[in-house]
Amino acid sequence: MTAPVNLYDNVYADFASDAERAVRREAYGEDLGQSSWLTVEEWLGFADQLGAGPGAEVLEVGSGSGGPAVYLAAARGCRVTGVDLNEHGVRNARALAESKGVAQRTRFEAVDASRPLPFADGSFDAVISNDAMCHIANRAAVLRDWHRLLKPGGRALFTDAMVVTGPVSHEELAVRSSIGFYLFVPPDANEAMLCEAGFTVLAVQDVTGNAAEVASRWHAARARHRAALVAREGEANFEGLQRFLRCVHALSVERRLSRFAYLAEKSA
Ligand SMILES: C[S@@+](CC[C@H](N)C(=O)[O-])C[C@H]1O[C@@H](n2cnc3c(N)ncnc32)[C@H](O)[C@@H]1O
Repeated sequence: MTAPVNLYDNVYADFASDAERAVRREAYGEDLGQSSWLTVEEWLGFADQLGAGPGAEVLEVGSGSGGPAVYLAAARGCRVTGVDLNEHGVRNARALAESKGVAQRTRFEAVDASRPLPFADGSFDAVISNDAMCHIANRAAVLRDWHRLLKPGGRALFTDAMVVTGPVSHEELAVRSSIGFYLFVPPDANEAMLCEAGFTVLAVQDVTGNAAEVASRWHAARARHRAALVAREGEANFEGLQRFLRCVHALSVERRLSRFAYLAEKSA
C-alpha cells in the first residue's frame, strides 16, 4: 500500500523558511506562495477571464497559504475572501495580507468547502479555485453553492488536474492521490456538473502543460534543498513527495491525466 504523505501542513507551517522560499522560486519562477501547478501568468490570465478588477468581490476556494489571493488583491485591486480547510494556511494568509498591506481588502476563513459556505446569496462577482477542487467532496452540490453565492452575470473558474484522459494503473492512482482526498473524473463530467448547477460553460482550457513543467521543476528544487527539507519533514515523507511529483510529471507529459481550467457564468 502507498503510505500517505503530508504536503500542506509542511509547506504552510514553514512557508517563510529559506528552504521553502527557494523551492518555490526554483519551481515556479515567480514566488506567489503557491502550492500547486500555478504560475503567475496563469493566475493573472484566470483573473482576467473572471473580470476580477478593482472593487470586484472575489471568493477563492482552497486559498492555501494565501499567497495567490494576496497577490491578486494587490495586483488587481479587488477584494478577496479566501477559504481553506488548512488552519496553518489560513493563519499564514492573514499574516501575509497584513505584511503586504492588503488586510483591509482580504479575509481568510478556515472552512470545509465541501459544505455550503457561510456567505450570503449573491455576495460575489467571481469564484476562483486553483487545483483545490480535486480535494473537495460533493462536487455537484459545491457547484450549486457557488452558483448561489454569485451575483447574476458572475463568473466561476476552477482547475481540475484529475481528469482521466488515458490508461492509469492502480499504483499510479495510489501515488497520485497519496496526499489526501482526491476525486478523479472522466472527460466531460465537470462540464455536465456545471450545467446541472445552472452555469453556462464559456471555455475549457487544457492547462496540463503547467502541471508537467512545475512538477518536474518542483522535484528538482526539492532535491537541491534535500537536507533542509528532510530535517523538517523526515526521510519517508521527503521520498513520498518526490515519488508523487515524479508521478504527476509522467502522467501529465503522457496526457493520461489532464488538467483543465473551466470558465462558467451565471446568467444575468
Ligand atoms: C493544491 S493546494 C492549492 C492551494 C492554492 N489554491 C494554490 O494554488 O497554491 C489545494 C488546497 O485545497 C485545500 N483543501 C483541501 N480540501 C479542502 C476542503 N474540503 N475545503 C477547503 N479547502 C480544502 C488544501 O488545504 C490546500 O490548501
